[in-house]
Amino acid sequence: MTATPTDRFAFDLHATDGMARTGVIHTPRGDIRTPAFMPVGTAATVKAMLPESVAATGADILLGNTYHLMLRPTAERIAHLGGLHRFMNWSGPILTDSGGFQVMSLADLRKLTEAGVSFKSHIDGSKHMLSPERSMEIQKLLGSDIVMCFDECPALPADRDRIATSMQLSMRWAQRSRDAFGDRPGHALFGIQQGGLEQDFRAESAQALTDIGFDGYAVGGLAVGEGQEAMFGCLDHATGVLPVDKPRYLMGVGKPDDIVGAVKRGIDMMDCVLPSRSGRTGQAFTRRGVVNLKNARHADDPRPLDEGCTCPACSNYSRAYLHHVFRAQEMILGMLLTWHNLHYYQTLMQGMRDAIAAGRFVAWEADFHAVRAQGDI
Ligand code: GUN
Ligand code: ZN
Repeated sequence: MTATPTDRFAFDLHATDGMARTGVIHTPRGDIRTPAFMPVGTAATVKAMLPESVAATGADILLGNTYHLMLRPTAERIAHLGGLHRFMNWSGPILTDSGGFQVMSLADLRKLTEAGVSFKSHIDGSKHMLSPERSMEIQKLLGSDIVMCFDECPALPADRDRIATSMQLSMRWAQRSRDAFGDRPGHALFGIQQGGLEQDFRAESAQALTDIGFDGYAVGGLAVGEGQEAMFGCLDHATGVLPVDKPRYLMGVGKPDDIVGAVKRGIDMMDCVLPSRSGRTGQAFTRRGVVNLKNARHADDPRPLDEGCTCPACSNYSRAYLHHVFRAQEMILGMLLTWHNLHYYQTLMQGMRDAIAAGRFVAWEADFHAVRAQGDI
């Protein structure tokens, strides 16, 4: 059987504007419009949202986590139940992170060696190990469409030696990930660039990954406490050394202005827990910046959260209601604000895709910042 375009994983770049790019990643499970924002579905759910609601916000792809799913309910159980897509009722593409990064931030008693990482579960203290080979096996059991290499990264600030040693280990693991992944038509494997804020290490890492050859390239090891200016400074160089014809994914970013700055610097994909996590604590992202529904100034306000937004929270409810359900700790607060926040993020991505396609990204960005500067009204 010969592969038709939809059987394959492929990236079509449609337009560029400065460093910013727009295009489509084709996968057998559907197209991903880029720049793309991927909502985080760590434990086989985007918290407080039905999958069809996540799709209604405009999301083309979700992110899942090797680390959480291997511990509970286990990758083998999900495989027996028909894979992650069926298990969580999401038929579109899923990207899974590889686990190393989450082990380092969440697990107990971690031990890092050349072979991989052994650790104790943060849930029940049980012992586990992850290696490039085991991570590839788990992501295959899950049925992930975009598989991430197994990597490691130090918290910043770290000294140059520590960053170099860690990056070189991740590059050896990238080769082992590539070897273990094998040839799986329709499924993609992404490499992960490391190197902290050191330009030469970022270039060395990009070269190592390009030599191995991947379907896409992630920028890892950022948004770990270095601040936006340092992150943008790093991205100014980090994307330029990656192949032009493959998707570039900035992992774990970020706030709306981080995302805009990343797209401006040539990033095609991003993920972050912020829109979903903040929704559950009463924080809403809007065109005019962050609105905190906890604030008593909303108690008698009959206006919607954002009169320009077409999401269910803004179409059908007042700020007073959202404030009330925050105070009363009702679950609908998380449901409505997560929907709004994901809708806002997807609207932002669509705005950027349209602006890049029309060659007016600079004007679009100026307007984005001008409206935010006005603040909430
Ligand atoms: N999520 C955020 N940053 C990273 C990273 O550097 N590596 C991986 N695997 N996941 C991440
Ligand atoms: Zn809304």
